[in-house]
Amino acid sequence: MDPYRLPRHVRPIRYDLRLEPDLTTLTFTGDETVTLEVQEATAEIVLNAVDLAFGEATLSNARGESHRGTPIVDEAGERCRITFASRIAPGTWQLRLAFTGTLNDKLRGFYRSSYKDPTGEARLMAATQFEATDARRAFPCWDEPAFKAVFAVTLVIDPQLTAVSNTSIVSERVERGRKVVTFADTMKMSTYLVAFVVGELEATDAVLVGRTPVRVWCVPGKRHLAAFGHEIGVASLRFFEDYYGVPYPSDKLDLLAIPDFAAGAMENLGAITFRETALLVDARAASHAELERVADVVAHENAHMWFGDLVTMTWWNGIWLNEAFATFMEILAVDAWKPEWQRWTTFGVSRAAALSVDGLHSTRPIEFHVEAPRDADAMFDVLTYEKGASVLRMLEQYLGATVFRDGVREYLRRHAYDNAETGDLWAALGRAANQPIPEVMDAWIFQPGYPLVSARLDGNQLVLSQQRFTYLPEPLPGSTPTPRNQLWQVPVQVRFSASGRSSAERRLLVGTDIRLAVPERLDSVLVNEGGHGFYRVRYSGELLERLLGGSSGLAAIERFNLVNDAWAVTVAGHMTLTDYLELTARFRGERDRNVWSVLLASFALLNRIVEPEHRPRLAALVRDRVAPAFAELGWTPRSGEDELTRQLRGDLVRALGALGDDRAVQARAAALYAGAAADLDPNVLPALIGVLAYAGDAARYDEFSKKFRSASTPQEEQRYLYALAAFRQRELLGQTLERAINGEFRTQDAPFVVRSLLTSVYGRELAWEFVKTHWDTMERQYPKAGLRRLAEGVVGLATPELERDVHAFFQARRPEFGGKTLEQYLEQLRIAVRLRERESTALTKYLARFA
Ligand code: BES
Ligand code: ZN
Repeated sequence: MDPYRLPRHVRPIRYDLRLEPDLTTLTFTGDETVTLEVQEATAEIVLNAVDLAFGEATLSNARGESHRGTPIVDEAGERCRITFASRIAPGTWQLRLAFTGTLNDKLRGFYRSSYKDPTGEARLMAATQFEATDARRAFPCWDEPAFKAVFAVTLVIDPQLTAVSNTSIVSERVERGRKVVTFADTMKMSTYLVAFVVGELEATDAVLVGRTPVRVWCVPGKRHLAAFGHEIGVASLRFFEDYYGVPYPSDKLDLLAIPDFAAGAMENLGAITFRETALLVDARAASHAELERVADVVAHENAHMWFGDLVTMTWWNGIWLNEAFATFMEILAVDAWKPEWQRWTTFGVSRAAALSVDGLHSTRPIEFHVEAPRDADAMFDVLTYEKGASVLRMLEQYLGATVFRDGVREYLRRHAYDNAETGDLWAALGRAANQPIPEVMDAWIFQPGYPLVSARLDGNQLVLSQQRFTYLPEPLPGSTPTPRNQLWQVPVQVRFSASGRSSAERRLLVGTDIRLAVPERLDSVLVNEGGHGFYRVRYSGELLERLLGGSSGLAAIERFNLVNDAWAVTVAGHMTLTDYLELTARFRGERDRNVWSVLLASFALLNRIVEPEHRPRLAALVRDRVAPAFAELGWTPRSGEDELTRQLRGDLVRALGALGDDRAVQARAAALYAGAAADLDPNVLPALIGVLAYAGDAARYDEFSKKFRSASTPQEEQRYLYALAAFRQRELLGQTLERAINGEFRTQDAPFVVRSLLTSVYGRELAWEFVKTHWDTMERQYPKAGLRRLAEGVVGLATPELERDVHAFFQARRPEFGGKTLEQYLEQLRIAVRLRERESTALTKYLARFA
């Protein structure tokens, strides 16, 4: 039997839950009555609990029978076994449990969060984070997504405080000096969606969407930052009710900003929690990226109210059904709300991130076996989210948006208040599309990796063939071998340009190759038109030349994919670095922000592998590529400029000022920063801060430290926080590292700051030594997902010596990140070091022209 799964013959139907948190003693007491369906006679009841102390346990039924139970806690198994002197007969029973716990500082279960009130006084509040398996830390429960039940919550709190939970308040009274707040019954749902927040909270006025009041909550003094999040909250709720064709499944919707929060946000039904940067923002002072982040996260969590909350995956192997869908819907909703943001074009960057991890031998299929909680935690990665959303987008484009939506509606109606699996989604989409879906989709979901589609001309035919793309020819020693001869059904969309006209052709590439007739007087061929496909394309030299040479009229996403794929095949060793660098020279005239993001990311990777003495030449290459675009854009926005161009300006300033080490840009950045910051474009200011840190000294470091402490928005705080990792002097970076473990930075942020130092060529050696020395401290202090994200920074340690040391350290430590996390980091590191070993000479030679 699986030690991580509960027996299924006793099932909860309803929890009447009463919790009394105490913010002075940092403890809580709880009392619950769980209505159960006992399906087979049993002498014990097993349920989940961690870090809880049990009081009395009694079982009774409507016939007046009652049994005294003895709770036996199995801490390692995260469960409690309640044994009874005699067997319990099948039927409906009520289990009453009393328990106590502590409000921990690990940002999971029922935990405490600290903040400063408007007078600067330190304060505490209490909040919850239960996904994946931490509801069991707040109350004993059947903590698996398939044990859906109704929750009736009562919170007993200090009368000065406010309590929020999943549903509306039905009664509030004062009893013996405590405020007793009772909430309406929830719908039937999974434990990981229950939430309570208790503190001195402020809310905006409610806006009604149909009959649903929508509010934003925050700690005192921040309500003026709620409008933007509120607006997208309202807009996306409307959008989803319309798209899903199913009413919002609860009686109110609260969006709550929590000062300490491990993830970005959490889709608790009706009480969505966020880290502050993901909800609270000053729309006039924020950069486009910062606003987009808020819009994305709010829309994402709202999308979950149906996809995830109303219909839930049966087990954690199916988490992609939640997260991929919410990510796909998030883009759809934000795109409908602000079409000018071109959200689907920018989604290319997310797709590229997924292609990058999924190009590893140590990748995994989207749907993947899960047993232990840590394996469930490891599922929340770029494969679940970004690959999942990409293949859904590919399917949507293949079936047509309306057919796809109809299938989704049917799926939601059919499985409402219940659980579902991947096959159920295929079945519903298949009924809407009138065609079998598993044939096309199963390989994308159940196989690791994706195809590299090679395109070449053979006479008057275009030959397209597929084979799996990987960066390395073989897996790292000791890891699982990669399946051979994998194939996919690839929806390909090809655009032929001939005699000045273009024509599109859609085909399903099944098997190893297909041939398409080519129109006469062919100019160029583009594979993956529109860029929705989750695969890479490798053009023959001839086809690539035709694409780049002529005025082939590529869309931004198509140019993005072209450069992204060229860089990937370069890293994989199928294209020389020299050819790639020559290719980048052709993009000096590029004006699309996303295309630039690939180019700049490739330069940043080269910066990690270039020999230090040649770094100035690499900087000169960066200036050579970037300067023309920046010269044209200038420092100040023109009227009528679109959002992406404004962002591009910031990106280019940062690239020139830091990677390009451009003294003139640095000087101008300092002058602008010293002037009226309020007049600066909000997209330029974060870049200036980054450049000034790069070029900065101890005085600048102190200045930025003060700015970090006195920041007036979460975004401003975040900019200065990361700037403290962007200096170059060892002693300054050493201070930043020290502050990552001495309590100065929130534990929600500190692991990311350390990760950023591990990937900085000026900080990496120092940071790595520090991480090794203080690993235990970090493990103790940081939320568990934090350490996993921190460790990702080792991919930046791209020298052979450091790579060896990383292996030695993890051999000794064997951290348990779950799933394939560690294997993936080590493979990414190997890829970078291998690129260095293979291309070092070529790089040096190429850079000689920038001497
Ligand atoms: N369900 C997740 C939150 C979560 C993540 C819980 C990992 C437990 C472990 C939530 O819906 C989510 O996906 N949040 C994202 C933000 C989103 C916009 C991608 C996050 O927290 O980063
Ligand atoms: Zn999500």
